[in-house]
Amino acid sequence: MFDQGVPHRAVRKVGTRRSDHPDMPMIDGEGIDGEDEGRERGGGEGRLGRAHTIADLREIAKRRTPAAVFDYTDGAAERELSMARNIDAFDRVELRPRVLRGTSVVDTTTEILGVRSALPFAFAPTAFTRMMHHDGEAAVARVAQRAGIPYTLSSVGTTSIEQLAGAAPQGRRWFQLYVWRDRDSVRDLVTQAHEHGYDTLLLTVDTPVPGGRLRDARNGLAIPPMLRPRTLLDAVRHPRWWFHLLTSEPLTFGPSAGGGTVAELTARLFDPTLSLDDLDWLRQTWPGRLAVKGILNAADARLAVDHGANAVVVSNHGGRQLDRVPVPLEVLPVVREAVRGEAEVWVDGGIRSGADIVAALAMGADACLVGRAYLYGLMAGGQAGVQRVVDILGTEIVRTMHLLGVASIADLTPDHAVLRCPCRPAALPEQLFKNTPGAR
Ligand SMILES: Cc1cc2nc3c(=O)[nH]c(=O)nc-3n(C[C@H](O)[C@H](O)[C@H](O)COP(=O)(O)O)c2cc1C
Repeated sequence: MFDQGVPHRAVRKVGTRRSDHPDMPMIDGEGIDGEDEGRERGGGEGRLGRAHTIADLREIAKRRTPAAVFDYTDGAAERELSMARNIDAFDRVELRPRVLRGTSVVDTTTEILGVRSALPFAFAPTAFTRMMHHDGEAAVARVAQRAGIPYTLSSVGTTSIEQLAGAAPQGRRWFQLYVWRDRDSVRDLVTQAHEHGYDTLLLTVDTPVPGGRLRDARNGLAIPPMLRPRTLLDAVRHPRWWFHLLTSEPLTFGPSAGGGTVAELTARLFDPTLSLDDLDWLRQTWPGRLAVKGILNAADARLAVDHGANAVVVSNHGGRQLDRVPVPLEVLPVVREAVRGEAEVWVDGGIRSGADIVAALAMGADACLVGRAYLYGLMAGGQAGVQRVVDILGTEIVRTMHLLGVASIADLTPDHAVLRCPCRPAALPEQLFKNTPGAR
């Protein structure tokens, strides 16, 4: 619980000296492109301090990261319509405040699968995070630990299950699983995650094959990125990024899959035959809590719960898989109804502000996952940039709750947020004209 303007540990400002926060080691003082990353850690004056929204951080990220890497993060599949619609749905939310029910403090905590979280969101799994910034997954997990929210390590993360547990030993850690063709390595991953204290497994089910990421294809993005004639100019523009890429631990992940484009790598690894039998197998193999990520309709949500899921994640993978699929925020109510309170319902896709998170909770989500937002912070300024994301989202959540007149997450109801112009099947003519004066 925290007062507006009184930073809670979730929204605490980043200190300037190493000794202020032992879990926030300074990045190498004077950067090779002449910028002093240490200075920005004061929060108020550096470029991160001047970022007041996630959109501001995105702009900084775009300048500081090679175009192909920024595009990999920022982009989506095919015409990117799903991603745009995810964001548009949040823009169409109308928040409906109540007045004369003021409170001096609002409680932003909520229980997510049996554990209190300081804020009602978790960091979503993202692949190859050390490519966005050399601080990578460990930096994101340290910020999550400090903020008291869960962090999800991707099975195509660039930090091992063990290293990540060492980086954030007190944090709540979740592990995201893609089912590989090679089931033995899947079993190994699951066992390792359990042994290293990850309490929840997120099984991603919307990736039988990789989505059509046209920006990556056009940029010729390979993992790991390579210095080639066409990337040399970029190296001149982003020397810091290339320096760290070439001097830090090579970008490897999960099972040794060799190199190639993202599409090649994932096509080699992912098993397109994933089925309910695999979910059953996993339910028997994994002793912890299980979430199924990538649900977009009531029928699949029901099946996932009937086959042992403790949570379903209403998600279209941030628009990165099949384009023009339903928008998670819009299908949230029907999924919630189908689940009948037997599992938690989380939502992701398009969340770019604390008000978005509050809206999703009011509309029926038990918690949200945040993806690109924290990656923009990471690209903008490493660990300090991710901390800035938490500061911004936390402050926006508190402010929105105060202005809505709610004192706690549990007080949010569908009366607090509605979608303007909700997308419905085309109306019949008589419905369209029913309330028009003079209409018969
Ligand atoms: C760069 C990037 C990498 C991602 N990698 C994974 C992944 O490895 N596993 C997974 O289940 N989802 C992955 N996702 C999807 C996110 O977990 C999440 O569903 C999505 O980012 C939510 O949308 P948002 O970015 O608009 O918040 C990735 C998303 C991005 C942007």
